[in-house]
Amino acid sequence: TGDYKMVHKHWHFNGPFGTYDREAMQRGYQVYREVCSSCHQLKHLSFRHLGDKGGPFYLEDYPNPNDNPYVKNFAADWLIEDIDPETGDVTERPGTTSDKFPWFFTNDAAARASNGGALPPDLSVMVAARNGGADYVYNLLTAYDTPKPADVELTAGLHYNPVMDGGKIAMANPLSDGLIEYAPIVTEDEEGNTVETPAPEATVEQMAADVTEFLAWSSDPKMEQRKSTGAMTMIYLVILSLLLWLTYKRVWRNVE
Ligand code: HEM
Repeated sequence: TGDYKMVHKHWHFNGPFGTYDREAMQRGYQVYREVCSSCHQLKHLSFRHLGDKGGPFYLEDYPNPNDNPYVKNFAADWLIEDIDPETGDVTERPGTTSDKFPWFFTNDAAARASNGGALPPDLSVMVAARNGGADYVYNLLTAYDTPKPADVELTAGLHYNPVMDGGKIAMANPLSDGLIEYAPIVTEDEEGNTVETPAPEATVEQMAADVTEFLAWSSDPKMEQRKSTGAMTMIYLVILSLLLWLTYKRVWRNVE
């Protein structure tokens, strides 16, 4: 709505050979952890997925994500509530790699009660679910400072966001420059040693792009594998065609 023009970013994961930007995904995890997780959930994700091949914290030294020290630390940083099925008693413990990402709220009703009646949706497949995908989520997060046109009327609890149909959203702007301080990025050098390098400033655009990268991965964690299988299939078919053509030429070489 209004004069807002969608920003089309160049996402590293688009195109037939696209891959996720691992550094962006690592920062995006932190944005999710420190900002979005206070309202949203990641229904389809367990902590161990963070360390899967193609995941943000995959390290070659730890092919099994349950052994990955970063993944273990991240899991332990969340509180998991276990409910005794018989007594209904709730006990709390630190997360382990095999736990699913917990939700801050016990159920939808509790989540709505804290959000003026609106339900913060599951974000694990959000990038796949919305038209515009990654660009949609990125623009939603960066468009809050657009001036509101006079014809959009907001009632209590609603905020102007030109990316939403009708320009209204129940989510207040979750990001502001410098909101979090990025942890160092984890990579491996050629000898396989773990190296930590400093991350950039957490501006609104940076955090929005990073959390979008993370959510694009969570929406489609097998994308890289699929694309590389596709590429290998194409190479195989090209070689096979060439061989068939050469065979054909040879078999018919004496026939006019
Ligand atoms: C909706 C992302 C933080 C509360 C949404 C939507 C997305 C999103 C993609 C769906 C919009 C649509 O329906 O098309 C994020 C991200 C966050 C974040 C990436 C972190 C950077 C928060 C926080 C809260 C919150 C901290 C609560 C304080 C909500 C609510 C809705 C919503 C209530 C439903 C809005 C409506 O239906 O009008 N969010 N969010 N979000 N979010 Fe967030």
